[in-house]
Amino acid sequence: MERTEILTADDAGIARAAELLAGGGLVAFPTETVYGLGGDARRDETTARIFEAKGRPRFNPLISHLPDLEAAEALAQFDARARALAERFWPGPLTLVLPLREGAGISPLATAGLPTVALRVPAHPVARALLTAFGGPLAAPSANPSGRVSPTRADHVLAGLSGKIAAVIDGGPCAVGVESTILGLDGEPRLLRPGGLPVEALEEALGQRIATGGDAKRPNAPGQLSSHYAPAAQVRLEARAAETGEILVGFGPVKGDLTLSDSGDPVEAAARLFHILREADALAGPAGRIAFAPIPEQGLGRAINDRLRRAAAPRG
Ligand code: TXA
Ligand code: MG
Repeated sequence: MERTEILTADDAGIARAAELLAGGGLVAFPTETVYGLGGDARRDETTARIFEAKGRPRFNPLISHLPDLEAAEALAQFDARARALAERFWPGPLTLVLPLREGAGISPLATAGLPTVALRVPAHPVARALLTAFGGPLAAPSANPSGRVSPTRADHVLAGLSGKIAAVIDGGPCAVGVESTILGLDGEPRLLRPGGLPVEALEEALGQRIATGGDAKRPNAPGQLSSHYAPAAQVRLEARAAETGEILVGFGPVKGDLTLSDSGDPVEAAARLFHILREADALAGPAGRIAFAPIPEQGLGRAINDRLRRAAAPRG
């Protein structure tokens, strides 16, 4: 156990975080999607400690975060498509999986030994300031124990990882609220995870439909393991009313004990999703049940439904 420092999202807090990272420590920091559990992506020991702190299986690779496209191009091979998407959507909630450059210096633990690397340039000002102050790639999975609900506030991070990491920077709630969209671009474009950038925007930019899913030989994004984002309570989907003993989470016309968005706005619902999952879990209690109203499968609704299906999946 170590004492986890709670740092302010100002120059002093960022300088302290950069110092801890330079010493090989783990620091959780806000991004516009969710809080990340950051560590130097070039150091084997540090990346090993990220897997250990999360209890994450070693075969599931990490995203490396960079301050800009130029820094990203030093690590991976960008073709014209990849560069065009990066120029259009970075900084922002998009992760690109690209062929790893020879001698990039990323720890093979971070890439799980794959010939590809997942890269993202986050938009959150605190994440950007931290990446600039640190001056290297930060491996950062979501800052939660593996398989549990992702954190969108500093207190969510502390609830799962206090005593296991050096520090968390408290930057308030995350604006997007679901993880980045992951696009595989090491061949034909493949959607590896729906997320904070609607896939429709990527299809429009690429001028083609994007196939879903990975190929069987490679780890797909969070869950080949389909149970993920799991609260303690059981989860039921597509509910229009509560059954006895259930906490109902509403959306639009379906009014519940809690709601993702009264007005039926999927952007608002994404921003609130993980906090509401935690609140509903607390209300339902350990043997409780949570029911979610239906959410249309478009725009951010795809990312929300993906997370809810995993939250509802049978536990392994
Ligand atoms: O929004 C986000 O993406 C957040 C913030 C902190 O940036 N990070 C995040 O990381 O969600 P994580 O580790 O929870 O999810 C990363 C996903 C994993 O499911 C992993 O399978 C996939 O990215 N991934 C990483 N490298 C890959 C690769 N080379 N090929 C295919 N998938 C990869
Ligand atoms: Mg995660």
